[in-house]
Amino acid sequence: MAKYRIAVAGAGVIGREHCKLIAAHPDVALAGIADPDPAAPAYAASLGTPHFPDLETMLDATGPDGAIVALPTGLHKSAGLACIERGIPSLMEKPVAATLADAFELARASKAAGIPVLVGHHRRHSPDIGLARETVASGRLGRIVTVSGMWWVDKPESYFDVAWRRQEGGGTLLINLIHDIDCMRFILGEISRVSAFTSNAVRGLAVEDTASVSFEFESGVLGGFTISDAVASPYSWERASGQALYFPHQPENYLFIGGRDGALEVPTMEHWHHGPGGGDWQNDLVRETLPLDGSRTYENQLAHFLKVIDGAEPPVIDAEDGARTLAVLLAVKTAAKEGRVVDVAEMLEGL
Ligand SMILES: NC(=O)c1ccc[n+]([C@@H]2O[C@H](COP(=O)([O-])OP(=O)(O)OC[C@H]3O[C@@H](n4cnc5c(N)ncnc54)[C@H](O)[C@@H]3O)[C@@H](O)[C@H]2O)c1
Repeated sequence: MAKYRIAVAGAGVIGREHCKLIAAHPDVALAGIADPDPAAPAYAASLGTPHFPDLETMLDATGPDGAIVALPTGLHKSAGLACIERGIPSLMEKPVAATLADAFELARASKAAGIPVLVGHHRRHSPDIGLARETVASGRLGRIVTVSGMWWVDKPESYFDVAWRRQEGGGTLLINLIHDIDCMRFILGEISRVSAFTSNAVRGLAVEDTASVSFEFESGVLGGFTISDAVASPYSWERASGQALYFPHQPENYLFIGGRDGALEVPTMEHWHHGPGGGDWQNDLVRETLPLDGSRTYENQLAHFLKVIDGAEPPVIDAEDGARTLAVLLAVKTAAKEGRVVDVAEMLEGL
């Protein structure tokens, strides 16, 4: 008999991936699937698990040890509250909620009840992102000066056949850049101010397909990031790391961290620095590859969720932390829309 029973709400793209991860884990069984889609009962039957029309009915009928919420983002808050009311820890897909008010309401409810919400920013469980954070914290790169990154992919036209992906909130900022922002916060600390340009010129949809963003961190680090879902390239964490669920692996880099004493490329983990005698721009640099532990991001996330369920670990990213990542993303959107530098604190006023 499995040690943990986990229920999944939303059997769409990512919900089905969670079901596969559960099926592959020796200590976890699927307690049930909730999804009103007409195809969902047959899918649940194919996995030998009960089907329910909604999350609340599923939680009450199955009493799982944990719940994975893979619903459209607008439903995250109510689903999270339903789990908290029943004392059930949740793994909440990202963004944690559709608005900051919803995100902080969820965070407060989680804290008040002592029922954890782990947000599905899966890259926090990736060996390359973890090692980048450790390397920065260790001081090996010296004082961090700058960061530069890119997320360039070519989404197929059919991706946009789904209506919500063509509407406000369905663009590459809220869906994709939010992961990069979360990684940069995790590795380099809080972001204080942003400016940004966005464009929809390639696809001509109501939502942006491309953006360039400048960041100022509280530490004084300055950074830049460009993102586009309309570029054929290997420069995205998913493709470069080979850690994502449904992308081919083509080893490359997507994030470059620069310090006074060295630079780090992620995820190849090439660490560039001067030799023991030191040096400057006219001296050779040594290239050293930092070893990764070989673990897999989504498996690590599920393993961590089990520890959160046990109370053995606090969430690596809880609802409040997820809300702070969302606040930076909303600052980027505001900066692009209003053509001004936006202080992230402005997004958090009154919350
Ligand atoms: N971490 C990741 O790698 C990752 C990847 C993709 C999506 N996401 C996030 O996961 C969430 C879901 O995205 P998706 O791409 O899987 O969406 P999707 O549209 O493919 O799936 C959502 C599913 O929820 C179901 N649903 C709708 N209303 C419901 C309700 N009231 N009760 C139960 N089920 C309901 C739909 O029928 C659908 O099957 C979003 O928040 C998205 O941002 C995360």
